[in-house]
Amino acid sequence: MRTSIVAGNWKMNGNLKANAELIAKILKEASRYDGIEVLVCPPAVYTAQVSDLLEGSVVAVGAQNASAFGKGAYTGEVSLSMLAEFGVRHVILGHSERRALFAESDEQVAQKSQAVCDAGMVPIVCVGETLEEREAGKTLEVVSRQLKTVLESIPVEALAEVVVAYEPVWAIGTGKTATPEQAQEVHAALRALVAEVDADAASRMRILYGGSVNAENASQLFAKPDIDGGLVGGASLKANEFIAICGAAAGAKVTG
Ligand code: PGA
Repeated sequence: MRTSIVAGNWKMNGNLKANAELIAKILKEASRYDGIEVLVCPPAVYTAQVSDLLEGSVVAVGAQNASAFGKGAYTGEVSLSMLAEFGVRHVILGHSERRALFAESDEQVAQKSQAVCDAGMVPIVCVGETLEEREAGKTLEVVSRQLKTVLESIPVEALAEVVVAYEPVWAIGTGKTATPEQAQEVHAALRALVAEVDADAASRMRILYGGSVNAENASQLFAKPDIDGGLVGGASLKANEFIAICGAAAGAKVTG
């Protein structure tokens, strides 16, 4: 049985006051997160604040991105060891916004994934097709290419710990969610791809769905056999929505 994960991706949102209020509300309901892993990924500059607020709780702080390089002349970058000092273990990599707006390539995502694994941390590797690619029937081809590049660059021993997030680009921030069936099809294909490398790791790997997950659609998505939780953007900024999504993941685990 895999432990589900709900990860909040705050993107470039928040401020000291709003962060404190949101975390306080999330922690109030922490008893509802039994049996799952919950993390929030604030902008890097708030890592220390959020890490302090979460100290001693069941909710962990994660990162939205990190440098593949250890240290040195990389202006504007944040290293893994810096994030680790503030308790970060999980790092979102290859989010479609980074791929589309900051030109991150499959190779860069793979390089970063390798660095995260080498640091003993956990990459949350995002893959997903655009609407155009889906309509051209290329969904599985695209997500397989994206994941394959990562699989080729990380050690097999680290594979089971890696988290994958299937995030169809057309569903991100649009209010248009993939149906549970559409998502399940892709999740099963991704797991099969991992199984070609290591069947045991594939059965243990958590594959999250992301793209307009909300309190209403979460339960149905999480009920699917290969959907092991969610990577939540917009709804992770609203305490009630995020808490309900975590509750849905915990509930799916009990009944699933
Ligand atoms: P969304 O974003 O939930 O706002 O669609 C998800 C994501 O980009 O991780």
